[in-house]
Amino acid sequence: MKKINVITVDGPSASGKGELSRKIAFDYRFKILDSGLLYRLFAYLHKKNSDYEEIADKIKNEIIFQSKREAIYVFDQNNDITNKLRTEEIAKEASKLSSRDNVRKSLFDIQRSFYNDKGLVADGRDMGTVVFKDAKLKIFLLASSKVRAKRRYLELQNLGQEVNMPALIDDIEKRDLKDSTRKLSPLTPADDAYVIDSSNMSLEEVYSYTKKLINKEFI
Ligand code: C5P
Repeated sequence: MKKINVITVDGPSASGKGELSRKIAFDYRFKILDSGLLYRLFAYLHKKNSDYEEIADKIKNEIIFQSKREAIYVFDQNNDITNKLRTEEIAKEASKLSSRDNVRKSLFDIQRSFYNDKGLVADGRDMGTVVFKDAKLKIFLLASSKVRAKRRYLELQNLGQEVNMPALIDDIEKRDLKDSTRKLSPLTPADDAYVIDSSNMSLEEVYSYTKKLINKEFI
């Protein structure tokens, strides 16, 4: 298989894959795909329109993704809807819809269209196993559910959302179980992925290890 200039970063919720991917994209000037955000966007649009094809068309033709420094923004007709997508309610809906075959199929080409040969970093659950099987470098990022809940807590607090820690741990564990046991594209490392357990590592430590992998696989 011809390998393409893609780094995939898969893993469970709040494992730090988003932060790691944004850092790689910024430092290496790679494009970025946050596929979880696409599933969240799908769930958000699905609240007003139940036709999957129309939702996919809207994402292709009307929605604008913008990455600025180390953040990604989503615009719908000039309205910044990013924070509306970053709620636990939308995450739950996204998780529900993501187990449906036609939802995954309708997002497949959209995800592939983010590729550009200068380089792409793609984060999600099935980037290395399904969407970019041909990626040059695959990373699977783990962390314990407590560490992840703490990270998500801080993230949601920063967005000004009220959070209940026990409920958050419960939500995260339920969603992980659902994502890992579903029939289609379950959350699992690709055979050729580097698995990193970041429970006791800082983002800097994970990043410095990742840079060594990038140098090994890309140069
Ligand atoms: O990564 P994030 O928490 O934003 O993803 C929201 C939900 O979207 C996940 O719980 C998962 O069910 C779904 N998802 C997926 N495949 C991906 C990315 C996200 O099924 N590649």
